[in-house]
Amino acid sequence: MNWDTVIAGGTVVSAEGKQRADVAIRGERIVAVAKGLARQASPATRIVDVAGRYVLPGAIDMHVHLDLAVCDTVTSDNFDSGTRAAARGGVTTIIDFATPYGDDTLHDAFDNWIRKADGVSHIDYGFHMCLTRGERHLRQVPEMVRLGIPTFKQFMIYAREGWQSDDGQIFGALEMMRQVGGTLLVHAESCAVLDLLVARQHHPAAMKRHGVLLHAMTRPSFIEAEAIQRAIKWAEVTGGRLYIVHMSTGEGADLVRHARRRGIDVWSETCPQYLVLDESVFRGKDGHLYATSPQVKTEADGLRLWQGLRRGEVAVVSTDTCSFTRAQKDRWGGDWTKLPNGMPGLETMVPLIYTRGVLAARLTLRQLVAACCTNPARLMGLYPRKGVIQPGSDADLAIIHPTHKIKVDWRKMETHCDWNPYQGWSLAGFAEHTFSRGRQLVENYRFIGQGCGGQYLPREPVAPRLQT
Ligand code: URP
Ligand code: ZN
Ligand code: ZN
Repeated sequence: MNWDTVIAGGTVVSAEGKQRADVAIRGERIVAVAKGLARQASPATRIVDVAGRYVLPGAIDMHVHLDLAVCDTVTSDNFDSGTRAAARGGVTTIIDFATPYGDDTLHDAFDNWIRKADGVSHIDYGFHMCLTRGERHLRQVPEMVRLGIPTFKQFMIYAREGWQSDDGQIFGALEMMRQVGGTLLVHAESCAVLDLLVARQHHPAAMKRHGVLLHAMTRPSFIEAEAIQRAIKWAEVTGGRLYIVHMSTGEGADLVRHARRRGIDVWSETCPQYLVLDESVFRGKDGHLYATSPQVKTEADGLRLWQGLRRGEVAVVSTDTCSFTRAQKDRWGGDWTKLPNGMPGLETMVPLIYTRGVLAARLTLRQLVAACCTNPARLMGLYPRKGVIQPGSDADLAIIHPTHKIKVDWRKMETHCDWNPYQGWSLAGFAEHTFSRGRQLVENYRFIGQGCGGQYLPREPVAPRLQT
């Protein structure tokens, strides 16, 4: 047969199970998945022998901030370094947050983000749109849906950045989501109480005594839980689809579980940092580097989030990649409220979930594929083009070795970040080979991509009642 490439001899993994099969690729698409395809291939077909390896759908990281201006600086990873890092980690699609600057319209933000990504990104990309100007932005939502953006984010915090939405604005946005078939992604942290706790500690004596521990001390779990509960109520009464981003608490997982049982259209994601780190990181020498919002919580929260992933209550793992170098973080000068919040994550998401989840018997491989590939594709309107290995889907593949471990070292990584939260950890699950629409981006763990061939992915609203 006249195929371009056959990925031969591996174990193909889906959200339903595993099978020994070859994968045939013609052009940008998968054209066949079956045993023995390599034997049927024409002599011109390239055969990539992946015996003993797992063949996964390329992962989709649906929570990424690349080239974002925030906190008087710009994230250290842009669409070049960020998507190189992604490919090394087996991620072949990202959805970044187009964020209006100042009084930008949503269209301004869309144009700005296309400019940042077009001809720069190595993998396919879509955008969520952040709603930061209440009614004015809400009126522009239908236009964004026509441009292929059916998912929107509102922040309950970040007044200083000018991003914050109040309850009325969240309620209104959920009503709008119901009308247009969109999904509202909410950063759920209770701003009034958080501000109060911060104000109580924001004086030289407390900062000298506690340092960056204040970041954790002023964000107890109830800051997230109360906010999730409130957002769920607005989703219940409006009927708009709600998606809780970067959920960091066990309490949050409980709230989402109960709401879903009551038939409320609410979904959630968590991130590796909430699964594998805990607040002891703030006691270390470089504790300030780990500041992110929400901040990492306790080991018990991590265990409950793993359980949520196992049970399907937490649908997605994403990274919330928002990276800053040491120099950028060091500007905090001992005041935790000045820290640029966020961490790198694209290169290590699949390895962390594979090593700490699958190899540690917390998740099955099937569940990893559901959380990192298939569920985000379904929820984000990309399925079955992405998130699954089947004829007709894009040839986006991540091939991983079941046991081969690599030591995390920022010096050898594609991210521009000069530190890593997992520095020195030995992780399996890095992509030995990555294919994006049939082009090989990673070979033998090295990025080899050329030509920045990532394309913008316009997305459709998903069906009103969604099953993952
Ligand atoms: O600290 C983080 N996560 N910064 C990125 C913005 C956000 O809230 O997602
Ligand atoms: Zn957020
Ligand atoms: Zn984020």
